[in-house]
Amino acid sequence: MASYDVIFIGSGPGGYVGAIRAAQLGMKVACVEGRETLGGTCLNVGCIPSKALLHATHMLHESQHNFEKMGLMGGKPKVDWKAMLAYKDDTIAQNTKGIEFLFKKNKIDWLKGWGTIPEAGKVRVGKDTHEAKHIVIATGSESATLPGVDIDEKTVVSSTGALELGKIPKKLAVIGGGVIGLEMGSVYARLGSEVTVVEYLDRLIPTNDGEVAKAFQKILKKQGMNFILGAAVQSAEKLKTKTKLTYKLRKDDSEHTLDADVVLVATGRRPYLAGLGLDALGVELTKRGQVATNARFETNVPGIHAIGDAIEGPMLAHKAEDDGYACAEILAGQAGHVDYGKVPGVIYTNPEVADVGATEEELKEAGRAYKVGKFSLMGNGRAKANFAADGFVKILADKQTDRILGAHIIGPYAGDLIHEVCVAMEFGAAAEDIARTCHAHPTYSEAVREAALACGDGALHA
Ligand code: NAI
Repeated sequence: MASYDVIFIGSGPGGYVGAIRAAQLGMKVACVEGRETLGGTCLNVGCIPSKALLHATHMLHESQHNFEKMGLMGGKPKVDWKAMLAYKDDTIAQNTKGIEFLFKKNKIDWLKGWGTIPEAGKVRVGKDTHEAKHIVIATGSESATLPGVDIDEKTVVSSTGALELGKIPKKLAVIGGGVIGLEMGSVYARLGSEVTVVEYLDRLIPTNDGEVAKAFQKILKKQGMNFILGAAVQSAEKLKTKTKLTYKLRKDDSEHTLDADVVLVATGRRPYLAGLGLDALGVELTKRGQVATNARFETNVPGIHAIGDAIEGPMLAHKAEDDGYACAEILAGQAGHVDYGKVPGVIYTNPEVADVGATEEELKEAGRAYKVGKFSLMGNGRAKANFAADGFVKILADKQTDRILGAHIIGPYAGDLIHEVCVAMEFGAAAEDIARTCHAHPTYSEAVREAALACGDGALHA
């Protein structure tokens, strides 16, 4: 039996980042992981593999649609699906091995197996029981299921199965027009699948700004994706050669069906807490089944903490990382803190969608006086040169003080551009602060500055 200052249960972005930070602060640290490799959902079956497929298929799209326009001849590339999956697997391996290296470098013990907490201060992994002053639950989340739809990871798949289909489906039906549905849907649309997204609400990406969601839907439609909105899926029935999806349109309760070779279920995720023994310990959960914590990541049981997807807040890898970092600092007696109001969200389609802070809908509902600065990428020279002028930057600022309240970007590298606004918001900046900051020309970032200018006297290139 070994004794530690802190044991993280789970080695996803929350657990492994927390473990590294705790080790940096001088603690004796272990991390429990039952998978063959470190990195959790994000590195093994989530963010990283999906980004590899998004990148490969984006390149395919560029070669099919834009190469000849730039004088790049030589025929259109063919897809070798097996080779593409091998590239994805290699990307995963490089990243998971990277975490293993970081664990060794920081002298973090990897306790291999699934962890249970028999009592505060103890973690059992297999036959071994380890002692820890602090235990941090960083067990992440799993795909939510849907009544009437049984996931077999072959023809009815979660995001995990969608990353390793035996072949590219002719017809793909996606349940849920959120982040996973649109990212994976666009991967297969670019690979030639006929993709239909069935979404319960009357719009896509329900937590994003409505104007962005509308523009995004238009762009994805132009790329060949189909959308059935306001539709509640009733069942997925496996027939001999295909799966029949039955859904009801919410406006008139009429029932319809849709045939598909593969159905992707992307209706959200829920905390993964099975087998930890939280019930017996009396650890309180929220109504939504998350571990209830205070701002210091403490549960109601002294010595047991929780971070990431297992607790409240956006279910995003980088939010989990920040939770882990702050939690480790708190355990070391420092003042760790995460502001969930400034966590950026990114959808890695092409174009990308990124946001931070409030949406227009949220500001309206809060009765807040605000102004909108918007700039279309049609006015950005770099975007035009790169066939990437579909999209815009929108900054929302307080009407009186000009303080930035939120930003919404749809366009190339939106997921990178958003961080300029995140930093500005962390510093409590006004839109004018961004507007008066020199931005290199020609860059996509100029569009952010133009949107900030549009909060004042007006953009220059609009
Ligand atoms: P999501 O919450 O983003 O979207 C789920 C969608 O499914 C919603 O639009 C919802 O209205 C719809 N829905 C729910 N029940 C339905 C039903 N019965 N029929 C039709 N539609 C239904 O969830 P998603 O896409 O599964 O992603 C799960 C989590 O993983 C999210 O928290 C997401 O933020 C995270 N994630 C983040 C990524 C990123 O940051 N790029 C990438 C992938 C996942």
